Amino acid sequence: MDGVKMVTETIDELRSTGLAQITEAGSSTELEQLRVAILGKKGSLTVMLRALGSVSADQRAAVGRAVNSLRDELEAAFSKRRAELSDAELNAQIAAGQIDISLPGRQPLIGSQHLINQISEEICDVFLGLGYQIVGGPEVETDYYNFTALNTPPDHPARGMQDTLFIRDRSGDRAAISNESDVMLRSQTSGVQVRVMEQQRPPIYILAPGRVYRRDAPDPSHTPQFSQIEGLVVDKGITFGDLKGTLDYLCKRIFGPERKTRFRTHFFPFTEPSAEVDVSCEICGGSGCRFCKGSGWLEILGCGMVDPNVFGFVDIDPEVYSGFAFGIGLERTACLKYNVSDLRMLLEGDVRFLRQF
Ligand code: DAH
Repeated sequence: MDGVKMVTETIDELRSTGLAQITEAGSSTELEQLRVAILGKKGSLTVMLRALGSVSADQRAAVGRAVNSLRDELEAAFSKRRAELSDAELNAQIAAGQIDISLPGRQPLIGSQHLINQISEEICDVFLGLGYQIVGGPEVETDYYNFTALNTPPDHPARGMQDTLFIRDRSGDRAAISNESDVMLRSQTSGVQVRVMEQQRPPIYILAPGRVYRRDAPDPSHTPQFSQIEGLVVDKGITFGDLKGTLDYLCKRIFGPERKTRFRTHFFPFTEPSAEVDVSCEICGGSGCRFCKGSGWLEILGCGMVDPNVFGFVDIDPEVYSGFAFGIGLERTACLKYNVSDLRMLLEGDVRFLRQF
């Protein structure tokens, strides 16, 4: 058999078997294997092209054309079959994964803001409306800011009002920073007052929300960690009347316009005079019930006029400026607003409780 005849016969054979195999290929993977076997580097058509060397020079062009046209034909057949198969495979995939629209849907769990954050934002909103700024402060604080500069020197009996959690260093001693000031978890947000007055000259109108810590055993009205909002105003001509008006307005905004407030004298080291503020009991309207322990009033915050000694620590002249400060416990406020009897519930994270607000 001469070279031309051999090549021509092989071409014909490859055409008929190749086209038949392509049509029969049952999957894209199978089709791809077939493509490699025919058109790949070591595929049968490629091998045949190489065999062109054995064809005489005058026949080579004609045979070459025939081989090339077979390649085009096979390539066209491959891409047609590839499209058919991928359509079929996609349809099969869709059919297999079809959604059963008769199944009831699954309700995604949507979280909500925690009650403490809600109350905090509510109070901040009231004061933002009055032109106050919101500031922050560190939860790990030094004795200087938490007590000393708030007119509570070491060994002052007022320190006993707040059982403090001190930070210990590696050797187990109380950690202290260079000026010998002990390091602690802040027991009140009042230290932010000092930090702000160090940084800013009056007029000052700020609110400082944050967490505080005390060595208290948990019970219905105590938790070792809770939240406060501190307020501070320093300006010329600030009086106790401004303090009363501001806090009365706050209580009415938070608890409702029908609620009354009462200022009871109290002692805080950093304010003079100082007071505790009570709001009239919602349950009995002030006549006395179990919730307010018969008094008709519920205590919600501490406040007072900034003590001139505190101004001394931050170099503000008490002859020129005066101011007031207050501190609100947020868990307490939340419990009073929503009649929650145990403030530990606010920390337990039970969604059946939290979902109600
Ligand atoms: N820091 C006080 C406490 O935690 C609350 C307080 C009372 C804050 C009077 C004040 C204030 O700013 O003037 O018990």
